[in-house]
Amino acid sequence: MEKPFYITTAIDYTNAPPHIGHAYEKILGDVMARDRRARGREVVYLIGVDQHGQKVQQSAARAGVRPEVFAQDVTAKFLDLWKRLDIAYDRWAETTAPQHTECVRAILNQLHQKGKIYKARHGGYYSVRQEQFLTEKDRGADGSFSPDWGEVVFLEEENYYFCLTEFKDWLVGFLEAHRESVLPAFRWTELRNAVERLTGDLCISRPKSRLAWGIELPFDPEFVTYVWFDALINYISFAGYTSHPVDFERLWPADYQVIGKDILAPAHGIYWLIMLRALDFPDERMPRLLVHGYINLRGDKISKSAGNTVDPAELVGKYGAEALRYYLMREAVTGQDMEFSEDRLVARHNSDLANGLGNLLNRTLGMAKRYRQGVLKKPADSPLAAPAAEAVSRHRAAFDRCEPHAALEAAAAFVAHCNGFIEESAPWKLAKDPAQAERLDAVLYGLAESLRILATLHEATIPQAAQSLREQLNTSLTDTAWGGLPDGHVLGAPRPLFPRIETPA
Ligand code: ME8
Ligand code: MG
Repeated sequence: MEKPFYITTAIDYTNAPPHIGHAYEKILGDVMARDRRARGREVVYLIGVDQHGQKVQQSAARAGVRPEVFAQDVTAKFLDLWKRLDIAYDRWAETTAPQHTECVRAILNQLHQKGKIYKARHGGYYSVRQEQFLTEKDRGADGSFSPDWGEVVFLEEENYYFCLTEFKDWLVGFLEAHRESVLPAFRWTELRNAVERLTGDLCISRPKSRLAWGIELPFDPEFVTYVWFDALINYISFAGYTSHPVDFERLWPADYQVIGKDILAPAHGIYWLIMLRALDFPDERMPRLLVHGYINLRGDKISKSAGNTVDPAELVGKYGAEALRYYLMREAVTGQDMEFSEDRLVARHNSDLANGLGNLLNRTLGMAKRYRQGVLKKPADSPLAAPAAEAVSRHRAAFDRCEPHAALEAAAAFVAHCNGFIEESAPWKLAKDPAQAERLDAVLYGLAESLRILATLHEATIPQAAQSLREQLNTSLTDTAWGGLPDGHVLGAPRPLFPRIETPA
C-alpha cells in the first residue's frame, strides 16, 4: 500500500499572536496537502504550536500570567485563525501534550544512554536582562557589550550537550548524496555552507533557575530541555514515534517539511537531521525540507515591536479567506520573499477571480440557460479539450515542483483562453442561425466542461469556490479527464461567485 503523503509545517511560537507570515506558511502546506488529497492520495497534514521556552516565559511574565496560561491563550488565537482560513490539518501538535513530552523524554534517555548527550561546564558572558549567553558577535566596536543588554556578568554553568560535531561528516555526505532533500536548490547550497562552519556541540539544557518553562530532563530534574530540541521532535512524536510504532512506520519520513528560510540552518538542516541520525534513522528515512521565503511589509520584516504587522484574521474578515488564500498562493513564488500588499490582494481577486473565472462561469451558465434551457449536448470533440489537457498537466507538474503560483498561473491562462473562445465563437450570433445549432451546442458544452475541470484545478487553493462552481454546474465529478459531463446534462442556476471588491478610490 502506498505510504500516506505526510506534510508538516513549522510549529509556531506562542509568545505572540499569529501574523501574515504564519498564515502564508500554513496556507502553503494546506494547498499542497489538498492537491494531493484531490489526486486521491491519503494525506496527513500536521501543524501546531511551540509552547515552551524563554520567549514564552518572558511574554507571560510581562503579561503577569503563568506561562501555561499565556501559551494556551495564544494557542487559541492560532486555532481560531486556522479555522477562519480553512486550514484542513489532520493532526495538531502542542508541545505541552503528553504524547509529545513523553516522546521527548524517551528520546533524551535513549541518546543519554548511547553516550550522545554529555554534561559539561561552560563559562561565558551572560545578559541578565535578556537571559541569554552573549557571544563575541554581540560585542561593540570597542569590545564592550551594548547597554541594551543590561547587566552583563561572567557566568559559569553546567549543562548537557548533544554531540552534533560527531555527525558532521555524515551530514556532509548525506547532503552531497541527496541534493533533493532541501528545496529550492539555492537553499541546499546555503545549508551546505552552514554545515562547513559547524564547530561546537549543541547545548540542550537550561538550568531551572533561569528557565523553568520546559520539559524536565528525565535524567536530571535540575534542568529543562532547550526549546529547539523539544520542538523539532514534534514532527515524529505526533506521527507516532515511540507511542504508535505501526502508525509511525507507515507515515515517516515526511514528504515535505515546510519551513521558513530563517529556521533552515542550523535548526532543521543541522540539528534536526543529526538528531534523527543519532536516533539511528537511515538516510532513506530523512525528511525533505521545503524552504519558503518571507512575507515582508513595506519593504521590511514583520515586527510586532516595530509596529510593522498585519492581522491575518482581520484580512479574512475584510476580504474572506479565499481572496487571501488565492492572493498569497498566486503571487508568492515558493522560496522567494514577497512584499505583502492589500491593493495587490484586491487587484488579484478582481482580475483573476471576478473578471476571469467568475465571469466565465456567469456567461456560460447564462447563455446555456437562455439558448438551451441549461441542457447540454455532448459533441464528438471540442477545440477546448487540448488546451484543458495542457492546463491540467502544467498544473500538476507545478504542484510536483511545490509551486502553487505556477499551477494557478496555468489555470488562469486557461480561463483567459476560454473567455477568448467565447468572443471568437460569439454564441449570441450562432443562436440566431438555426443552421449553427450544432456548433452552438458544442461551444456551450466545451465551456461547461472546461469550467468543471477548472473547479478541480482550483480545489486546493479556493476549495469553497470550487465546491460552489460544481454546484452551479450541477456536478460532483472532480476528475480532470475531458468529457466528464454526460450528454443531456442539466446545468444549475448561476449565483455570483466572486463579487468584485470595491475599494474607496
Ligand atoms: O521559528 N514570512 O516559530 P515562529 C513567512 N517555533 N514566514 C514567516 C515569517 C514571515 N514574515 N515570519 C516567520 C519558530 N515565518 C519555531 C519553529 S519548528 C520545530 C519550530 C515562519 O513562530 C518561520 O520561518 O517564529 C517559521 O517557519 C514559522 O513561520 C514559525 O515561526
Ligand atoms: Mg521566528
